[in-house]
Amino acid sequence: MKTLALCASLLIATANAAANATRSSGPFLKSLDSGTGWIIGNDLWNITIGEIYGKSLFYQGQDLIGNAAGHYSGYGNGPTSQHRIARLIPSIDGETNFVWTSASVYQNSSEYLDVVFSAIEVDLHWVIYPELAGAYQYLVNKALPTLAVLRTLCRLDNTTFTHGRTNAKDDALPPYADILAATKVQDETWQQADGTYITKYDWSAFVREIDFHGVYGDSFGSWYIRPGRDYINGDHLKQELTVHRESATGDAVELNVIHGSHFQVTSSATFPVGKTWGPWLWYLNNGSREDASSRAQQEFAAWPYTFLNTTGYQSRGRVSGRLVLSDGRPASGAAVFLGDNQSDVSTLDQGTDYYYAGYADDEGNFNLDNVRTAEYALYAWSNGGDISDVAATFSQNNIVVGDREALALGDLIWSVKTRERIFQIGDLDRKALGFHNGGAPRQHGLVAQSPANLTYIVGESNASDWYYGQSALGSWTVLFDLPEASNRSATLAISLAGYSKSSDLVISVNGHSVSQLLSADLLSDPALYRSGTTAGEWHYYELHVDSGVLQAGLNNVVFQVTRYTLWRGFLWDSVFLDWN
Ligand SMILES: *[C@@H]1O[C@H](CO)[C@@H](O)[C@H](O)[C@H]1NC(C)=O
Ligand SMILES: *[C@@H]1O[C@H](CO)[C@@H](O)[C@H](O)[C@H]1NC(C)=O
Ligand SMILES: *[C@@H]1O[C@H](CO)[C@@H](O)[C@H](O)[C@H]1NC(C)=O
Ligand SMILES: *[C@@H]1O[C@H](CO)[C@@H](O)[C@H](O)[C@H]1NC(C)=O
Ligand SMILES: *[C@@H]1O[C@H](CO)[C@@H](O)[C@H](O)[C@H]1NC(C)=O
Ligand SMILES: *[C@@H]1O[C@H](CO)[C@@H](O)[C@H](O)[C@H]1NC(C)=O
Ligand SMILES: *[C@@H]1O[C@H](CO)[C@@H](O)[C@H](O)[C@H]1NC(C)=O
Ligand SMILES: *[C@@H]1O[C@H](CO)[C@@H](O)[C@H](O)[C@H]1NC(C)=O
Ligand SMILES: *[C@@H]1O[C@H](CO)[C@@H](O)[C@H](O)[C@H]1NC(C)=O
Ligand SMILES: *[C@@H]1O[C@H](CO)[C@@H](O)[C@H](O)[C@H]1NC(C)=O
Repeated sequence: MKTLALCASLLIATANAAANATRSSGPFLKSLDSGTGWIIGNDLWNITIGEIYGKSLFYQGQDLIGNAAGHYSGYGNGPTSQHRIARLIPSIDGETNFVWTSASVYQNSSEYLDVVFSAIEVDLHWVIYPELAGAYQYLVNKALPTLAVLRTLCRLDNTTFTHGRTNAKDDALPPYADILAATKVQDETWQQADGTYITKYDWSAFVREIDFHGVYGDSFGSWYIRPGRDYINGDHLKQELTVHRESATGDAVELNVIHGSHFQVTSSATFPVGKTWGPWLWYLNNGSREDASSRAQQEFAAWPYTFLNTTGYQSRGRVSGRLVLSDGRPASGAAVFLGDNQSDVSTLDQGTDYYYAGYADDEGNFNLDNVRTAEYALYAWSNGGDISDVAATFSQNNIVVGDREALALGDLIWSVKTRERIFQIGDLDRKALGFHNGGAPRQHGLVAQSPANLTYIVGESNASDWYYGQSALGSWTVLFDLPEASNRSATLAISLAGYSKSSDLVISVNGHSVSQLLSADLLSDPALYRSGTTAGEWHYYELHVDSGVLQAGLNNVVFQVTRYTLWRGFLWDSVFLDWN
């Protein structure tokens, strides 16, 4: 039996070798005879790349792009590049797309071919292995302007790619015909005759939670697998576009937004020369999500990749420590973030360099691995659970991470206030979770279902009686009893998971005006009107309530919307009242 099995496997090996031998010579870069482009690929796939667009993507004998726009990359919201003005290169979607001036072999190792496409602003590398359908890609800054959005993308044949998949949504892409038949109601959002909406924002996801995303059909899948993702801007609550139906052409779109602003106050950043985004894997298969999932697990385990052996990429350390609240409790489950040193930019809006997001365990221990050698600040905040009463955040500057260093920071004391709490509605976690509709599947216009007037009775109501977003003109009233007269002042704290202008909120306690949150004064993020149900950008306010205002018996706090804008307003995280 053993001999037979050996013979059989030898036979298969011989057959394989013969089959392999009949193939061409592995990863390649060829210039087109016409001189206006290049072909790259291997025996399994190839793509023809022109000045801007990659077209004719062949895999398994089929062109996966067809009449769609194909593969390209570029940036948005920065000043229009001089290069573009000089050459009058049109943009098909309002972004500035990179124009390739050369393509060359960057590295030809025994294992892979690294081909670099050069534009004025960046180098885009394709790392091609002989037996892999798809390629690793990484982008290196040379002369990018200050910008808000940076991406690569594939716009593919919409008959081959009919569905989209992220960690949060897996569904058919909406038919282009449905968009054409519907009425545009805001940016990239259409209302159909039955009242429902179509918008690409429904496909967005929190980027640090995505395992893989892409578009697929019966026979083919095209996926982005992004392990590491320390090169993407923002913290745990960084969310971005992923896949969608292109509203101008009907293409199936697979986006790789590596710096973005679609749910933030701002993400405008100026990058150091040499900043490297990626590598990520652009992966082709037969459409199997199971296969893409196991490939994703393999890629996540392989990060950081050995093939990108620049000193900057390979030089990494580890940061660990234990966060302890000043009241003695461990910072159980806290969100922990390694970001910009000595910065006054919010953790969500940081994006110049590299970022590491994790969570503490029940005992407050945290461990951030594969951190690039640099100087950082460590930030932490409540992610709910056992410390959902904690509004204070932790930060410590000047964290220096060395190569192959295991930096143990030991016990870090997180200073928290110990005031007597009168009531709290919702967990402090920068998210609208727990409230009615909080964390619902992303959908446009959901806040229109929140009531204009609402009464919450402390001791009787619970968080699910409060709504995730407040938008309509009206008053949300909190009623609470105080057992005895007191002449103490108090602090009313308002924690917003997000805010989209223009809406105003007037806040009073027992009829005494306490504060107003006015559109003119607030930083606005688009989350609420772009299908967000969990978070946009966090805002936190502590408002003083004078002594004598709170009374024995029934008291009230009223949140009155006095200025209304459709689908916009206040995304709630928590509200609480403390005795001073
Ligand atoms: C031939 O290619 C297959 C994958 O298609 C690979 O698993 C095998 O090792 C190759 N065989 C030889 C002899 O190179
Ligand atoms: C890479 O090196 C191999 C082995 O030397 C060679 O056969 C192949 O042509 C090279 N490929 C390119 C694109 O230079
Ligand atoms: C690209 O793939 C197609 C389809 O498999 C094939 O006909 C063509 O020869 C390939 N191009 C190159 C340069 O290998
Ligand atoms: C695919 O694109 C074509 C060309 O724009 C369009 O006519 C068609 O409706 C699209 N198909 C789907 C399912 O959206
Ligand atoms: C797709 O590939 C996976 C694994 O690579 C395989 O298990 C599955 O049967 C294939 N599906 C089809 C429809 O070919
Ligand atoms: C990266 O690997 C290549 C090929 O093995 C080698 O020539 C080069 O010196 C390495 N660079 C670094 C920085 O290790
Ligand atoms: C960051 O931290 C280091 C501590 O090593 C400090 O010397 C440096 O000035 C800080 N950088 C900035 C930009 O403040
Ligand atoms: C919250 O209150 C509602 C009724 O107001 C009730 O249906 C629900 O079960 C309560 N949930 C919890 C977790 O107590
Ligand atoms: C909200 O309450 C105010 C004051 O009682 C009332 O005028 C208004 O009609 C209410 N709005 C709705 C939608 O019920
Ligand atoms: C209440 O406090 C205020 C300010 O602290 C003080 O002026 C006032 O006399 C106090 N009233 C009573 C009844 O204690």
